[in-house]
Amino acid sequence: MTDAEKLEIRDITRIERIGAHSHIRGLGLDDVLEARNVSQGMVGQKDARRAAGIVVNMVKEGKIAGRCILLAGEPSTGKTAIAVGMAQALGTESPFTSMSGSEIYSLEMSKTEALAQALRKSIGVRIKEETEIIEGEVVEIQIDRPATGTGQKIGKVTLKTTEMETNYDLGNKIIECFMKEKIQAGDVITIDKASGKVTKLGRSFTRARDYDATGAQTRFVQCPEGELQKRKEVVHTVTLHEIDVINSRTHGFLALFSGDTGEIKQEVRDQINNKVMEWREEGKAEINPGVLFLDEAHMLDIECFSYLNRALESDMAPIVVMATNRGITKIRGTNYRSPHGIPIDLLDRMIIIRTVPYTEKEIKEILKIRCEEEDCTMNADALTVLTRIATETSLRYAIQLITTSNLVSRRRKASEVLVEDVKKVYSLFLDEGRSSRILKEFQDEFMFSEVLDDKSTAMDCDDH
Ligand SMILES: Nc1ncnc2c1ncn2[C@@H]1O[C@H](COP(=O)(O)OP(=O)(O)OP(=O)(O)O)[C@@H](O)[C@H]1O
Ligand SMILES: [Mg+2]
Repeated sequence: MTDAEKLEIRDITRIERIGAHSHIRGLGLDDVLEARNVSQGMVGQKDARRAAGIVVNMVKEGKIAGRCILLAGEPSTGKTAIAVGMAQALGTESPFTSMSGSEIYSLEMSKTEALAQALRKSIGVRIKEETEIIEGEVVEIQIDRPATGTGQKIGKVTLKTTEMETNYDLGNKIIECFMKEKIQAGDVITIDKASGKVTKLGRSFTRARDYDATGAQTRFVQCPEGELQKRKEVVHTVTLHEIDVINSRTHGFLALFSGDTGEIKQEVRDQINNKVMEWREEGKAEINPGVLFLDEAHMLDIECFSYLNRALESDMAPIVVMATNRGITKIRGTNYRSPHGIPIDLLDRMIIIRTVPYTEKEIKEILKIRCEEEDCTMNADALTVLTRIATETSLRYAIQLITTSNLVSRRRKASEVLVEDVKKVYSLFLDEGRSSRILKEFQDEFMFSEVLDDKSTAMDCDDH
């Protein structure tokens, strides 16, 4: 393999692996929901992580609907990271939908419709279905092929359990399945009566000594007990949104793949709600409210907030987690100010989890984890310098310097990043602070530059 080829393959795996939060594998809590210092890629921020863990447990129990939680804190204090951790901790059982506040401004549907779809994507419905199966050990199997080689095959199979034995005639379709699965006497199989699907569970223990030539991978199982015909429960999990799309006549299920679902009529939703309620009462379905994560919640406007007020009160509502880094600022769509840019009446329905800035030690730990994630060996002094940079500029800026300094060190053909590499990239790439200082200093030479006096540049959160 040439060098060029090697490089190409490495690059592809890199793209898959490294994202801003790819080092996060959960919330890093122990059994009693205490946050471990460093675990599952998470560092510090213990109170917020613990609180998020309680929310995850609430969701897993599935009994509470329509709660709203706000993650509030300074930029880059790990709000999005905690939400990613929550999604990981929830696993695949409960739905987790993540979107940014600005995603609702779409030309194709109204803001409230986008929110309605997001809310319904976050509610799982576990539909239970009973199917009839035949389960038994194959005693004898006989398949007759017509002499001409074409035409219908005829077959018979004798199945037994520990208590009974029965003969079945086999249709053409099932014979094909038997041949595909290479079923022989001594196998324990199930046949789904509705679909005709044949599954091989393994070989019966009683046949264990018949063949010396069984491979190591052969699985031995007990001969089934009781009746040959059994009822088995199968559970499918879908979201309310998927049921909506499938039943909305204008779009059809293919819209699920293109994502081009357009608006869904309220009548369709009402009907589906009623149907799901009916199933729930009959014990056919269970509702499993998940989580809707709305990042950058200050981007929502007053219409969205009032829609959420109402939507959260329905008993078909998921748990909504929002995140924002704003202080007291204007509510979008109004001239009023409010904490976090969120109206007081919605804030009143929320519980707030605060994230706090990291200590130097925690920053160092996060940078260390990111170095591992980005395949970068950094010398201890360089890491200390990088931590210093992070405390003076920002955590995000320091994270950006990891890969860049790694590239610089590789140009030197060095195996680890040294202080000089970090210094080099620090001088090559500006952080926000230095860049604004330059702009202020040389404002006359830039186009359209208007440096405002201090009073008006201050964020919206002054005087009130
Ligand atoms: N406690 C933590 N443990 C590990 N990594 C963290 C932690 N907190 C933040 N990070 C990492 O630091 C970076 C910035 O954090 P994040 O994006 O979560 O900040 P944020 O609070 O969402 O900021 P913003 O308000 O600007 O959206 C991310 O790469 C994130 O994975
Ligand atoms: Mg964020």
